[in-house]
Amino acid sequence: MAPSQPMIAQPWTVVGEGAIGLLAAAHLHQAGYPVQLHRRSAGSFAFTLRSMDAVVSLSLPNTVHSPYCFILLPVKAYAVAEAVQQLQPLLAAKAQLVLSHNGMGTVEQVLPLLQPEQGLWFLSTSHGAYKPDRSTVLHSGLGQSVLGALNKAALLQQHNVEAAMQAALGPLQLQTDIWPSLWQKLAVNAVINPLTALHQCKNGELASSNYSAAIKLLIEEFVQVATLSGQNFSVGALHHRVNQVIEQTADNYSSMQQDFAKGRPSELDYITGFLLRQAAQHQLQLPAHQAIYQLLSQKSPR
Ligand code: PAF
Repeated sequence: MAPSQPMIAQPWTVVGEGAIGLLAAAHLHQAGYPVQLHRRSAGSFAFTLRSMDAVVSLSLPNTVHSPYCFILLPVKAYAVAEAVQQLQPLLAAKAQLVLSHNGMGTVEQVLPLLQPEQGLWFLSTSHGAYKPDRSTVLHSGLGQSVLGALNKAALLQQHNVEAAMQAALGPLQLQTDIWPSLWQKLAVNAVINPLTALHQCKNGELASSNYSAAIKLLIEEFVQVATLSGQNFSVGALHHRVNQVIEQTADNYSSMQQDFAKGRPSELDYITGFLLRQAAQHQLQLPAHQAIYQLLSQKSPR
């Protein structure tokens, strides 16, 4: 057997100071990767990560290594394209960029912004994390992640990106086609998030019979548009999955509920809006999704 190669831990840049990004950054740091944060304020960022079995305090520097070669961009969907545009002058010619957010529609925006040898990836995770205050990250739910390459330039760096993302947000499954996983996540988000945002309730309240008719319609319409988009869904299986997530996250407020509650921009255009755009391409009407989109659009900035 050939002697195993010593693994060189490449420096990673994590964009922003959101809970999932800091969780990933802390795990990368613990695994021996040099990690820096790219964020608006200068100086290093000190925070404490509280997980089920440990409390770790660390301080990560701002942008020491440049150009950036490996970048995790766990920012909300609506902020992705602008973030990539701003980062581009700082990126190496063969930089590898990993997107991670709810919703769909950003990949089409980002691919034309990249240089020919820059790789694009998507990581979808079920790890739960939030920040009870600015400098504390609570790893509230152990999850797993899927990772997929979105262009040819990504495949050249597969080993490095996969190993780092395994350390950051594992257990990780590398998928040759990430799209079915992204549609699966979208399906759950397209039902739970707009309903909880509209009714300003916890996920668990959707189990009440008051919401059964709306959930049924949203699921049926989702399956129609997903099928026309080449994705394989059944109404029964999706219903089961949505009920499962409602039960498992009963005590949580969804990300969209929180965005509307705090008057922040939301991912509506990348969840329900994405579905409506897909449907329009197939001359399909989605009256339930359209109605919820209109109601929420009137409530707050998107
Ligand atoms: O967006 C969210 O909040 C989550 O993806 C989910 C699964 C709906 C749970 O709250």
